[in-house]
Amino acid sequence: MKKSEEPKAVSSVGPVTREILPGVVVCKDAESVALTAARYFVEWAWQAIGQDGRFNVALSGGNTPATLFGVLASPEFRGQVDWGRVEVFWGDERAVPPESKESNYGMARRELLIRVPIPGGNVHRMEAEKPNIGRAAQDYEDLLREKLPLDSRGFPRFDLIFLGLGPEGHTASLFPGVRGTRETSRWVSTPLVPKLGAKRMTLTLPVLNAAHRAMFLVSGAEKAEILYTVLAGTAEPPLPAQLVRLPDGERIFLCDEAAAKLVLDEIAAKGEFTGKKDAVGAGKKVKGKH
Ligand code: 6PG
Repeated sequence: MKKSEEPKAVSSVGPVTREILPGVVVCKDAESVALTAARYFVEWAWQAIGQDGRFNVALSGGNTPATLFGVLASPEFRGQVDWGRVEVFWGDERAVPPESKESNYGMARRELLIRVPIPGGNVHRMEAEKPNIGRAAQDYEDLLREKLPLDSRGFPRFDLIFLGLGPEGHTASLFPGVRGTRETSRWVSTPLVPKLGAKRMTLTLPVLNAAHRAMFLVSGAEKAEILYTVLAGTAEPPLPAQLVRLPDGERIFLCDEAAAKLVLDEIAAKGEFTGKKDAVGAGKKVKGKH
């Protein structure tokens, strides 16, 4: 595997984080989100490996996790994980070949997997580029059945699933109003996403909700509106990200201040988070008046 430029070393002192709401943790910026997520990864990997001998983790796609992958591959972090006991899966994948720049697997391979001593047999990509994507989804389901323990409802239970948050409330490749988003029995589905004009392969909601932990990584001002809406939980019908609720696990939103701005503003203005956005507007006005 080709070695290219070494990732930047990161400081050993952890970034300041604050839990502003149950399961909502805010850090200063995107790098702090990545550093904090890497620390959680190391801690939870040790826990799972200590308990079960394995750490089963599903990675998210898109842009946000790239910084996390770089931190995990850094000299400071890569030595803290027993990569031989880490099994890497994906929450979703685009219907593109692994070498495509659109490939979630491809990005993780470049930023992380070629930089850490993880056995090739521990890396389980979604072969969403296959002509028969339905068959490939069934194969992935069979793989999960072989590799993962089941929860009390008979769904595969990951130790950790990383998730992103799309501008309209999608997560993994579960998009609002798209067939398959409310799937209740299958573990892996292949929705055709009209706005993309393309198919995706994705873990289904029951699998996301069966996890031990699901961690949303959310950074940037462009996510402030949707994060507020998802945390308010008032959208009807509920947005896919809203439907990620773990009855026997922990859901964590790890965000930066820019993404959490509207929530932070409301808490500053009203002393609490009500999820009724107009309050924020008023808050701001109040400030103006003074
Ligand atoms: C994908 C993802 C998707 C992603 C969100 C957020 O394949 O696109 O898995 O769910 O996490 O779209 O993407 P960004 O991190 O790029 O904003």
